[in-house]
Amino acid sequence: MIIKNSEFTISAPTVSKCPEDNKPEYAFIGRSNVGKSSLINMLCNHKGLAKTSSKPGKTLLINHFIINKEWYLVDLPGYGYAKNSKSVRAKLEQMIAQYILQRKQLMNVFVLIDIRHEQQTIDREFIDWLGKSNVPFSIIFTKADKLTAGRAKSNALLWMKKLEDTWEELPPYFITSAEKKTGKEEVLDYIESINANIQQGLEKPH
Ligand code: GTP
Ligand code: MG
Repeated sequence: MIIKNSEFTISAPTVSKCPEDNKPEYAFIGRSNVGKSSLINMLCNHKGLAKTSSKPGKTLLINHFIINKEWYLVDLPGYGYAKNSKSVRAKLEQMIAQYILQRKQLMNVFVLIDIRHEQQTIDREFIDWLGKSNVPFSIIFTKADKLTAGRAKSNALLWMKKLEDTWEELPPYFITSAEKKTGKEEVLDYIESINANIQQGLEKPH
């Protein structure tokens, strides 16, 4: 799929303030600093569309970007940033949970994982919660440029394999680098296939 047009729409503090036009949307979530905003900019080939920072905790609202005037990419705040106070963390987690559980237009959640690290409890708990809540999701490994291609692949495979201890069926996964523009086509084609299913009146994938 080619993104011809990407524009910022709105930053919402609650799910009730999100756009009301009922277009399909795809959200990016993961630990603070994992590269959510950078990935959105890479996919759209639009530097500065989503605000990025080398300091964690940059994104604090639910940010909608309208793509080709037809569907949305959604940049969410990161979870689990230890330097945020307990009350800020709790508020962000509530905002994220409400958005994910209540947003009917949400077609797929992309959970971003830094490809350099072993599976962390916070990510695993989040994924298990998505599963229990019946939310369709996929995994995006980020920052693949920080490893050799071989190491990136083996880390991703190992990470996915670990899910098999409780998950019967594994979600789709993608290896990406915002820096090197790796994985762009794969992620966009995946979104395109879901959009095509919606147009044919099929259900959300699970
Ligand atoms: P929060 O909004 O704070 O939760 O962070 P985020 O997940 O949106 O991360 P962001 O995109 O702001 O990127 C965090 C840092 O990681 C920035 O310094 C980026 O330049 C860097 N970064 C993001 N993606 C990549 C990547 O693919 N490769 C490399 N080398 N650095 C990356
Ligand atoms: Mg961000």
